[in-house]
Amino acid sequence: MTGAAAGTSAPVIELTGLHKYYDTGGAQVQALRGIDLQIDRGELVSVMGPSGSGKTTLMEIIGCLSEPTQGRFRLNGHDVQGLAADALAAVRGEAIGFVFQSFNLLPRLSVVENVELPLSYRGVSRRVRRERALKALERVGLAHRARHRPSEISGGERQRAAVARALVNEPSLLLADEPTGNLDTATGDEILALLFAAHAEGNTVVIVTHDPRIGERAPRRLTLRDGLLDTDGSR
Ligand SMILES: Nc1ncnc2c1ncn2[C@@H]1O[C@H](COP(=O)(O)OP(=O)(O)OP(=O)(O)O)[C@@H](O)[C@H]1O
Ligand SMILES: [Mg+2]
Repeated sequence: MTGAAAGTSAPVIELTGLHKYYDTGGAQVQALRGIDLQIDRGELVSVMGPSGSGKTTLMEIIGCLSEPTQGRFRLNGHDVQGLAADALAAVRGEAIGFVFQSFNLLPRLSVVENVELPLSYRGVSRRVRRERALKALERVGLAHRARHRPSEISGGERQRAAVARALVNEPSLLLADEPTGNLDTATGDEILALLFAAHAEGNTVVIVTHDPRIGERAPRRLTLRDGLLDTDGSR
């Protein structure tokens, strides 16, 4: 165990008998149909599988953006279900960093202001927020674009900014859903290098991807099919 790994022994993620159903106009979609999964501190895990197999649904639950229909989810040893919306938002803000396919930066804010956002919910002073955001931007090689708007930088740079935003809080879990989906191969590789570097520094990282090259490089690979995990890779 390294870096952020020290201290606690509980798994970062523990899913038991997890189901997620969507009700849409009478028809029920069973997006997850019984997931058992444990991810330990400091792991890097890829999640692959066909379109519609439940990858994003799984990430949304792990990321505390949505609740399971049935089953148990423990994050850092604590039960997540049953928490009120504001408590859930607090857990999310402190424990989890997100990188999405579509970057999800706020267009009216500068790059550095976007990176500061996760800190502004936590009562960190303005000066410290700015310092930490600039440091995070340096880490991803984007300090020179700090004052630009997202519309003024390239797609790869936007995703770098999103990685900086995800890391600024030093979350216990970094989640990336198709982080290279909108990028060309070379730019995508740069983003992946950042995620792998975060893992090398001790972060726990989960990457959803269609790209077999990412899957091949991940130390642990999971495959979802039709709402269920293939047994290899799970434990
Ligand atoms: N909000 C929703 N309401 C109803 N059904 C949904 C909703 N979100 C997802 N689904 C359905 O749940 C299933 C799993 O969707 P999910 O987005 O998790 O798949 P995915 O593996 O991420 O696919 P992709 O590779 O295309 O991103 C699909 O059948 C999808 O249509
Ligand atoms: Mg998806």
